[in-house]
Amino acid sequence: MEKLAILTGGGDAPGLNAVIRAAVKTARNDFGLHILGVKDGFDGFVEEDGIRPLHPHDVRGILPRGGTILGSANRGNPFARKVIRDGKEIIEDISGKLIESIRNMKLDGLIVIGGDGTLRIAQELYEKGVPVVGVPKTIDNDIGGTECTFGFDTAVNTAMDALDKLHTTAESHHRVMLLELMGRDAGFIALRAGIAGGADVILIPEIPFSFDAICRKIHQRQKQGSSFSIIAVAEGAFPRGGQPVVSIPGDSVYVARLGGISFQVAEFIAANCQVETRVTVLGHLQRGGSPSAFDRWLGTRFGSAAVHLAAEGKFGRMVALISERIVDIDIAEALAVPRRVDLNGDAIRAARGLGISFGE
Ligand code: F6P
Repeated sequence: MEKLAILTGGGDAPGLNAVIRAAVKTARNDFGLHILGVKDGFDGFVEEDGIRPLHPHDVRGILPRGGTILGSANRGNPFARKVIRDGKEIIEDISGKLIESIRNMKLDGLIVIGGDGTLRIAQELYEKGVPVVGVPKTIDNDIGGTECTFGFDTAVNTAMDALDKLHTTAESHHRVMLLELMGRDAGFIALRAGIAGGADVILIPEIPFSFDAICRKIHQRQKQGSSFSIIAVAEGAFPRGGQPVVSIPGDSVYVARLGGISFQVAEFIAANCQVETRVTVLGHLQRGGSPSAFDRWLGTRFGSAAVHLAAEGKFGRMVALISERIVDIDIAEALAVPRRVDLNGDAIRAARGLGISFGE
């Protein structure tokens, strides 16, 4: 074994550079292996100058940096790639070309750092003979088989900071402030930031809410002398009998983009609770910034473990965190069941015990 490659796919997450740095250093120091960096997800394999060697000096100083030094693409599925040809949009499958390029490069292993979409591509490539190792990444924390993904902790801290700031202005103006948070179909960011940031109401996709129940909570607080309320809303939250709000519809290639539910909740509250509302959509701020200590720590351990897996020839596997230990599982197993908030878990129980409403 001589040569590995590494790529980052999908939406970025704080801690990606920690993984890349650890992989490059571990490959060189522990195994004497070279690592190639693939630019912009899988696109780098088919683009000019898309591959470059990564030496230990190339990863110097990147640990505290957000984003990814390799670039990413969450629209770069080689099995279904949208391109404009002769003025017309077509969907092409360039996976054959990509696999050929990987073979020509005589790669001994490909480390794919990504969320569920990217890992699904990795699994398909593995089934076609590419020696792939997966590293789970997402601020949403929704990948099965691992108790945590890096990026989540930093995103939660950013969201908590926003909730702290909203508290002071909400109190001054006697308003209900809503903070819409990312997470797609999982409520982990809203739940953890909501608890850490002292939200009064937390709306998550795992618990469909009732508009009236939110108003009841606001009125209860008003009766108890609190003229303001803070609501953490996961972008994927939806009312009972309803659907998540889509800001940009998906199609056969791209998933729908979520967003906008907090405006509907705010309108209802303003019309029915006799209180002013304001909405903040935190958006991509949650994906930015310097990774927290936890995300650097987890990313470093994942990067190192991924190289060890490749060196041992354990392909089709993904590194994961279970009970504080880094283990490995089949990528297919990780993808089989996405992670969702445990409704019987202690976090939900603690929140309820504190009087936080889930809009039930
Ligand atoms: O999966 C990460 C994530 O940030 C989601 O929380 C969010 O819904 C989505 O990506 C946003 O994607 P984009 O970067 O395409 O706007």
